[in-house]
Amino acid sequence: MEMKEENPAMLMARSPEMRKLMELAKTIAPIDSTVLITGESGTGKERVARFVHDHSVHAAGPFIALNCGAITETLLESELFGHARGSFTGATGERPGLFEAANGGTLLLDEVGDITLAMQVKLLRALEEREIRRVGENKSRPINVRILSATNKNLKEEVEAKRFREDLYYRLNVVELAVPPLRQRKEDILPLARLLLAEAAVHMRHPVDGLTALAADQLVAYDWPGNVRELANAMERGVAVAKTNRVDLGDLPLEVRTGLPLVSDKGVPRFLRDVEMDCILGTLEKTKGNRKKAAELMDIGVATLYRKLKAYKLHVVTS
Ligand SMILES: Nc1ncnc2c1ncn2[C@@H]1O[C@H](COP(=O)(O)OP(=O)(O)OP(=O)(O)O)[C@@H](O)[C@H]1O
Ligand SMILES: [Mg+2]
Repeated sequence: MEMKEENPAMLMARSPEMRKLMELAKTIAPIDSTVLITGESGTGKERVARFVHDHSVHAAGPFIALNCGAITETLLESELFGHARGSFTGATGERPGLFEAANGGTLLLDEVGDITLAMQVKLLRALEEREIRRVGENKSRPINVRILSATNKNLKEEVEAKRFREDLYYRLNVVELAVPPLRQRKEDILPLARLLLAEAAVHMRHPVDGLTALAADQLVAYDWPGNVRELANAMERGVAVAKTNRVDLGDLPLEVRTGLPLVSDKGVPRFLRDVEMDCILGTLEKTKGNRKKAAELMDIGVATLYRKLKAYKLHVVTS
């Protein structure tokens, strides 16, 4: 029933930017080169990695993704390379690492920009020598794994700041697949929205099958700082709260509905009063100053809206 499981490589690409990326991915997939997938958070880097795997000669083998940023250095080392019995506290049995587990398949090193300099040395050695040694063991084991890595950092800048080894950077970045942010490929928004909406509807067993024109317009207008992941969440929420069989403007999350980000461009949360003020002004702009409609869109009473306008000393010209 889960669409995602049935067709994991399904990569929606309508915009020229994404089509170009998909073509490049198809071209380099059969070649055994290392690929660095870059892009803002939520743009679909893991999805692209999966697509490369599915079009590679390793497609029949396993696809394993490891988030390198989420674990400590010791744990990362044993996750990747495995360990011998008693090699460190807590290593009770011997265990193969993910390089071995992914043998004959693909290993995605996700958030590769987050690994420590010491681990970078060990990783580089494994990639150059095409063999690994389990922690606490002397024996080398050959590996036959396609390595993909992904990052939302600018690795070139990390290299310049001496936080990332230049030699490893070039080793990983034989080919770069740069996934553009959603706001730079607006043609993808609606096809993606419909796909994600359908997935959410199946998942929640809620018979919602489309978007109203108003909702669709707003999805295209919005900037999507959280990219496809934010769009997926918006569709999930929309399906959950929709009162008809179509997701309407009012069913979208507030920041999407009003087109205003809740965090500043520096990434810190904005003061609630500023967000509220922007929201009110933005909504009034949309309703051309019609306060009753604006109050409805924001799901508050008209009296509350008047009170807020007065409190913020907002003088809005109404048509
Ligand atoms: N082109 C696409 N077609 C279909 N689904 C997509 C596409 N791009 C992204 N998605 C979906 O959007 C969500 C986010 O994608 P993914 O996890 O690949 O992003 P990411 O770039 O790895 O994010 P992060 O930087 O947060 O790790 C996933 O649920 C994914 O299935
Ligand atoms: Mg990811």
